[in-house]
Amino acid sequence: MLLETAATSAYVVAALLFILALAGLSKHETSKVGNTFGIAGMTVALVATIALALERKIEPLGLGLLAVAMVIGALIGLWRARKVEMTGMPELIALLHSFVGLAAVLVGWNGYLHVERHLEGAEAITLSAEGLLGIHSAEVVIGVFIGAVTFTGSIVANLKLSARMKSAPLMLPGKNLLNLGALVVFAALTVWFVIDPQLWLLIVVTVLALLLGWHLVASIGGGDMPVVVSMLNSYSGWAAAAAGFLLGNDLLIITGALVGSSGAYLSYIMCKAMNRSFISVIAGGFGMESSGAGSDVDYGEHREITAEGAAELLSSADTVVITPGYGMAVAQAQYGVADLTRKLRERGVDVRFGIHPVAGRLPGHMNVLLAEAKVPYDIVLEMDEINDDFDSTAVVLVIGANDTVNPAASEDPASPIAGMPVLTVWNADNVIVFKRSMASGYAGVQNPLFFRENTQMLFGDARDRVNDILAAL
Ligand code: TAP
Repeated sequence: MLLETAATSAYVVAALLFILALAGLSKHETSKVGNTFGIAGMTVALVATIALALERKIEPLGLGLLAVAMVIGALIGLWRARKVEMTGMPELIALLHSFVGLAAVLVGWNGYLHVERHLEGAEAITLSAEGLLGIHSAEVVIGVFIGAVTFTGSIVANLKLSARMKSAPLMLPGKNLLNLGALVVFAALTVWFVIDPQLWLLIVVTVLALLLGWHLVASIGGGDMPVVVSMLNSYSGWAAAAAGFLLGNDLLIITGALVGSSGAYLSYIMCKAMNRSFISVIAGGFGMESSGAGSDVDYGEHREITAEGAAELLSSADTVVITPGYGMAVAQAQYGVADLTRKLRERGVDVRFGIHPVAGRLPGHMNVLLAEAKVPYDIVLEMDEINDDFDSTAVVLVIGANDTVNPAASEDPASPIAGMPVLTVWNADNVIVFKRSMASGYAGVQNPLFFRENTQMLFGDARDRVNDILAAL
């Protein structure tokens, strides 16, 4: 009994630590402390859960399985976390979300097999006596549904982010109707299942949710993936909360709700940043009417510049804005970029950075890289803070960015990224684009910026080219 009370108190402590973790993670200056709170919270939660299991006289076999699962999970987690590149984080996160979804499905099925399929068992008899059997069935079917949507949705997100599946949206005829129809069928089946919890109903709901999760994410285009990842993050939280209800575990409910609501809020911020409607995102219905516009358009010839030419241009500039993107992360060019910034600032050049909210592959990806290379925070500005200043900028260095500086987003209503706010770099006197080829960016859309009169391409690996400029300077 004492152990049980201690474990419940430990759950409250863990929940508080998780809230502190979220607060810490909201700013990059405090993110390390936030992470530490999260690790501490998870340790407290694990110890308390094991203590509770012991108090409830878990069978030795169960305890053994728990230990084996934890050791295997911890080893795989440590191995992956040490190995993963920063640019591979989103796909890893998507994969981890799929595990949460799968866990919720398994917990739901387990609940069904223990209670509804086993009505003469102790758990079912207690629930029946308290008149709670219907609520249990609702928890099962809703938990399985959210979990299965999260599971397949996250797998598709993982495949798209790792380029093992095309990032272009899947365009099935009447796709919005299909999604809506699936939700209506799910609502009807839930009512049916609560009244009469038959096995086949749960099988149909599981299959329906697996297909819906797949379709929801498959029909979203590459440029909108950031919102999808945070949306799946939110779904995984709700799936965990649903599992918490089934397992009667308060901490899982609280943690799930924290992840669910913070993920939903992050999706909302992302939607605002990308000028997308929050509701249509949740319904998986945006980024759709892509006509592939722009891909076949002949924009003319592009111009090239050498590293020496770029160094010359920078020497005579009074204002420089650097807009980094995914390519800077791939090339690990941030250290060279930081050196270049220092050198130019020593010569009296006003150097600032313009960061697009979805540059790279993670929220805050560029900020983290620049902080790592010790670029001062005060010259790193958000897109909205810098966009009006491009008119009065002598040189913009676009380092490995593409979709986030694409004028088609604001000028071509047929473009798949139409309406997404972008860094208006083309308003500067000179634009130098660092990339290896004329290939398109993550959204798979051609970029007319590269063909503008004031744009010059500096081809090659961004880190090499930045070092060449440094040498020439
Ligand atoms: P992208 O549009 O992805 O373009 C990056 C460019 O970097 C590519 O065109 C590539 O061209 C170039 N590049 C790659 N490796 C390079 C290297 N070693 N050296 C020089 N250049 C290199 O980048 P972005 O402007 O940052 O936009 C981000 C995109 O990702 C958006 O579409 C966004 O929606 C999506 N996304 C973002 C997130 C978050 S949360 N940030 C999450 C998922 C998806 P070459 O191949 O020709 O070199």
